[in-house]
Amino acid sequence: MKSLITIQALGEAGLRGLIDEASSIRDRMESGGSIETTLQGLCVANLFFEPSTRTRLSFDLAAQRLGAHVITLDPATSSGSKGESLRDTVLTVSSIGADVLVVRHSRQGVPEAVAEWTGLPVVNAGDGANEHPTQALLDAVTLQRRFGSLEGLRMGIVGDVAHSRVAGSLVQAFPVLGIELTLVGPEQWLPVGTGLATTTNLDAALPGLDIVYLLRVQTERGGVITDDLVTRYQLDSSRAARLATDAVIMHPGPMNRGVEISDDVAESPRSLVIEQVRNGVPTRMAVLDALVRGRL
Ligand code: NCD
Repeated sequence: MKSLITIQALGEAGLRGLIDEASSIRDRMESGGSIETTLQGLCVANLFFEPSTRTRLSFDLAAQRLGAHVITLDPATSSGSKGESLRDTVLTVSSIGADVLVVRHSRQGVPEAVAEWTGLPVVNAGDGANEHPTQALLDAVTLQRRFGSLEGLRMGIVGDVAHSRVAGSLVQAFPVLGIELTLVGPEQWLPVGTGLATTTNLDAALPGLDIVYLLRVQTERGGVITDDLVTRYQLDSSRAARLATDAVIMHPGPMNRGVEISDDVAESPRSLVIEQVRNGVPTRMAVLDALVRGRL
């Protein structure tokens, strides 16, 4: 078993293999087909040192569907709050008998450090503003199921790109899959040195996009919500009307309605947000299954 820390490490073949497998798992789950319980008897520990709804619950269910026992650390009520170091907490979880660790932390690099300390396989569920590899995978699954092929799709990632670990993984993975990316947002949120197209003008970019991928302002990482930002970058119905008829809207959640997205756009038929969430469990099943089969 190896770890999944960065999306880049998967390479194109690894990415495509996981996307196809996740989609196939979803089809089998929905048609009542059989799923091999490859994690039978293993213990998956969820260590989320930052808030999470979708990611934690879907890792939990994914591990259970594959037959694993799941244990979950709640940092607020654990010994970290009594002064225990992160390393001691993590070594405790490993000694209790965890076989796989799913780690989210506000500091970049923690999942990798946890893998080194424990020698256990670790899946990165989000580290600081760095990466969130399973989110990028489930987004690719969602797009492949919607459009059939990813090749040549034009996607704008809009908002607080610089502070977003979701964007951190998307910009590594999506160009490899043939998706053309444009980063859209105020100058201070556009990372430099990615080699990708950037623009501060959302209105001008919209007609040329197949996918608008909206990001929440990462206030916990220094992002600040201003009236000007909402005026210039909120995707509301008048902006959405500039999109091509079959263009779609995505968001990793949690959505801040009234900030980066208006209520009506969040509810519109163009929105794939619920589909993204649906693909979370099969995607994480594909990752955990590949991990225990030694295919990562
Ligand atoms: C994201 C995260 O935690 O990075 N949420 C998620 O996992 N779907 C996005 C966010 O918090 O803005």
